[in-house]
Amino acid sequence: MNIEKSFYRRLLEAPTAITFNDVILLPGYTRVEPREVDLRTRVTANHVINLPFVSSPMDTVTGAEMAIALARLGGVGILHRNCSAEEQLAMARKVKRAESFIIRDVITISPDQQVSEAIRIMEDNDIHGLPVVDDRNYLLGIVTWRDVRYSDPSNLVRDVMTGKDRLVYSHESITIEEAKRLMNEYRVEKLPIVDKDGRLLGLVTFKDLQLRGKFPNASRDADGRLLVGAAVSPYDLDRAKMLDRYVDIIVIDVAHFHNENVIASTRKLMNEVSADVVVGNIGTREAALDIVSRLDGVAGFRVGIGSGSICKTGVVTRVAAPTLFAVASVADALASEGLLGKLPIIADGGIKNSGDIALALATGASAVMMGNLLAGTRESPGRLVALEGKYYKEYYGMGSNKARMKRASLDRYSKPSKDVEEGVEGWVPYRGTVKDVVQELKAGVEAAMGYVGASNIEELWYKARFALVSPSGMGEIRPHNIFMIKG
Ligand code: XMP
Repeated sequence: MNIEKSFYRRLLEAPTAITFNDVILLPGYTRVEPREVDLRTRVTANHVINLPFVSSPMDTVTGAEMAIALARLGGVGILHRNCSAEEQLAMARKVKRAESFIIRDVITISPDQQVSEAIRIMEDNDIHGLPVVDDRNYLLGIVTWRDVRYSDPSNLVRDVMTGKDRLVYSHESITIEEAKRLMNEYRVEKLPIVDKDGRLLGLVTFKDLQLRGKFPNASRDADGRLLVGAAVSPYDLDRAKMLDRYVDIIVIDVAHFHNENVIASTRKLMNEVSADVVVGNIGTREAALDIVSRLDGVAGFRVGIGSGSICKTGVVTRVAAPTLFAVASVADALASEGLLGKLPIIADGGIKNSGDIALALATGASAVMMGNLLAGTRESPGRLVALEGKYYKEYYGMGSNKARMKRASLDRYSKPSKDVEEGVEGWVPYRGTVKDVVQELKAGVEAAMGYVGASNIEELWYKARFALVSPSGMGEIRPHNIFMIKG
């Protein structure tokens, strides 16, 4: 075999994989106050969000509750896939139903069903009213919690519903203001929307109208519903097609995307779905360029391999593309094609605080993905435990034995040929609500951008200047020589 390049030279000429822990942002001349910073960002080719925060698709991080909370604050959640396709679909539906102007996916009942069934459907779905429709979806009336609460359970819905003659309903062209006025005037909490022939098209609820005012910064789709993404395996076309009806973003969830079989399967999958498809994880310039040239229509990249706080890949394999290094490499590759920001980079793994977020954004990322920082919040699905007077939440890697025991995650970190644990299990400190955590991170990033003199993320890409800090020097730029009371 003719080895083209000497091993020794390859070592000598190896690039430095700079990590979050090696580098700082330098202050620059500024006219920007932190409160003037605009953190709006393109998270995928076709979706803009108001805060550059994305939650990891992990079963101790993102279920429906996390996705709802994060989207309401301006970020977006990626639902984990360590469950059946039906369970993941139920999470997606829950996010989409959480608030909207016109709910399209309306849960209905037939007039011939019993009151007991109406009660069960309302309880199962946590709703208080059901439009009554015939088998061709013509609106016949509405039945609410008040109608069924004290009624004999064996009664039929048709006997307790408010019939169409007394019903307030409207058409698709109605505006939010008109809906509010109508609902106030007639003192109703649900407004069915019908087509010109009287077929049910959707439902407006008073609760949704109120929530809309409460979360003005929320990330929403064109129908006013919260934005949401879902992780899928590149080999699980059925799941992707099921989810595609509900989610805005599909994230191809593999540990190493730059793999022939993965790329080939993703190409097939992309032909079958309409959601924006984000691919990852990748960590090199070559991967980015190869994928751009081979996967027409890809909508973004999840970037970083081996930096995750629960990640063992770097130890087990000595293969890694630390997030900051990976982001800068991929950003350069995309910039060389004129695609920086058009095909957004989501920096994934190793984010410990707002300073790391500022660094990731400054090296070309459009958003960051967080597992650890969000796992500690009330809205994460992990268990809460008390240990010696302090609260913690369970957090484990998707390649850990614990996660791998749940079958669905096996293909990400452990095909049969890869029978090794690549993640760890543990606990993270309880940090309060997502809102608390997000507000703190947001304020930190805004302050960083104020120092640099960047009023938005794109400006940060142009203005950011960096310096390397020695390992001992890093000790100087954090609190030292003090017994801290908190922190
Ligand atoms: P943080 O640092 O936020 O990172 O906890 C979350 C990211 O870590 C990745 N991830 C893993 N990486 N083994 C790995 O090598 C694992 O078991 C594992 N689980 C998650 C993933 O990219 C996530 O977003």
